[in-house]
Amino acid sequence: MKGIELRNKFLEFFKSKNHTIISGAPLIPENDPTVLFTTAGMQPLVPYLKGEKHPGGTRLADYQKCVRTNDIDEVGDNRHLTFFEMLGNWSLGDYFKQDSIRFSYEFLTKVLNIPSEKISVTCFGGDSDAPRDKEAAKVWEECGIPKERIYFFGKDDNWWGQEAGPCGPDTEIFYDTGAKPCCESCNPSCDCGKYIEIWNNVFMQYNKKDDGTYEPLAQKNVDTGMGLERMLFLLQSKNNVFETELFSPIIDKVRSLSLEPNDESLRIISDHMRSSSLLICDGVLPSNVGQGYILRRLIRRTIRHMRKIGFDVDRITEVCETLVDSLSDMYPELNANKDNIIEQVKKEKNRFMNTLIKGEKEFGKILNKLKIENSDMIDGHSLFRLYDTFGFPPEVTAELAKENGLKVDMEGYKKLFEEHQNKSRQETAGTFKGGLADHSEVTVAYHTVAHLLLESLQRILGNHVEQKGSNITSERVRFDFSHPEKVSREILDKVENMINEQIDRGLVVTCEEMPLDKAREYGAKGVFNSKYGEMVKVYTIGDFSKEICGGPHVDNTSKLKHVKIVKEESAASGIRRVKVVFVD
Ligand code: SER
Repeated sequence: MKGIELRNKFLEFFKSKNHTIISGAPLIPENDPTVLFTTAGMQPLVPYLKGEKHPGGTRLADYQKCVRTNDIDEVGDNRHLTFFEMLGNWSLGDYFKQDSIRFSYEFLTKVLNIPSEKISVTCFGGDSDAPRDKEAAKVWEECGIPKERIYFFGKDDNWWGQEAGPCGPDTEIFYDTGAKPCCESCNPSCDCGKYIEIWNNVFMQYNKKDDGTYEPLAQKNVDTGMGLERMLFLLQSKNNVFETELFSPIIDKVRSLSLEPNDESLRIISDHMRSSSLLICDGVLPSNVGQGYILRRLIRRTIRHMRKIGFDVDRITEVCETLVDSLSDMYPELNANKDNIIEQVKKEKNRFMNTLIKGEKEFGKILNKLKIENSDMIDGHSLFRLYDTFGFPPEVTAELAKENGLKVDMEGYKKLFEEHQNKSRQETAGTFKGGLADHSEVTVAYHTVAHLLLESLQRILGNHVEQKGSNITSERVRFDFSHPEKVSREILDKVENMINEQIDRGLVVTCEEMPLDKAREYGAKGVFNSKYGEMVKVYTIGDFSKEICGGPHVDNTSKLKHVKIVKEESAASGIRRVKVVFVD
């Protein structure tokens, strides 16, 4: 079975169980300034898990592209990835443990034909926040999983939630590879590789508040996530994800062009190129802050490993081509963005190569100095200098250092970095770990500004303008749109005036739910409409704008302050980016 078939079977199965199939969100959260990337299928659904009505109803399923960067440095072994696909199904106050477990069991044993004996499960063992999950265990027993293969663990293993927001006990489903137990007490919680976690069913019935305490959620939800890559390699009887068709064409290509290929480098290259290409599709560009910095690190680490295995980095674009060709059936956006992917990767490669030679020389000098001093620690100043002057990400230095048996003072580096980059710190700090949408008043207000902005841009520049992305923080709205050339200050002033006029007019903002077809007839704009199910919400701002959107918004434009467009720049070829802020 190929990856695309697994995805389709999953969606078909949940459709047959009356779930609405929704589209996943982009990798860059649209209106959530607290996270850098979409890391789980539930993330774009937080407002609905908390009780807002979803236009698709109470049973949803989708596939979600995810990027997790906390263990970027672990990639290279046989299981860590920075990009993966999560297949998920949700109950928003609809079914709970009983049906959730039964659906999972049926899908695994009847659709994927996995023998029941291969399945072990874990349930929450209970603590002062929530009781032992006997209910889940009972359903598993009824399905035919014997007691010996039902394990109970604490919060570390069987609880899912982020820093704050919806959370709860989970039951995790493991596939037994048949490998020998690593020890007498070998069980699914040990990571010897005998048991592979394939699916996580979270019973979200609590909300974790910012102060760390739990309160019951208004509705009891189910949130599940299955890792497509893992499930696939098990179904294909391969040893690991890198042997599936999702990676092997890329690995084969790089191997065939390398002098001294090794598994670790080939895995890093194939994983990082996959995540980089998909990030570029969703509008990320290499830079020194936020998402752009992660992309830069991914591409630069790829190049370092290409050099390490004797791969001519000028041929990196050929790897991009192989990647796009081999993955476009699953991610058609790769094909649509092929030229842009190649251009961005090539540009970043050139930028890095220009600095790499000098940086490596500098690194050599540091090595000599350390030898003389008889030290094995690269200090924060040297790390920062390599980064600031030579464009060497500290993680790359750390890797080089490790290869030379040295350590790095990352803490010292971080301190210096923060001192020097006070401004960019605001954009990156605190956003790595994950968290939940900040729907504070000002972000809601900026969201309404985004609607006024799109309409104004279209009225002034023309109908070719389409929204290509937006990112809202409590400081500003950043908005990307298609337009072939720079927008002059004069035009920006006109756009600004048009928005401010609508604010002065005090237009009422209303919301109506309707089927997608009707919304189109009604003339609602909606670049992101495919994300939602059959029923959609349409926000109307007086006689000025109609847009499909999940909300929320202010109820009257008079609640907004006047705005100013403070920046206009290129975001990618044919895409402009503006930043709009409230002024007093
Ligand atoms: N949110 C859970 C996870 O990420 C289930 O989807 O594992």
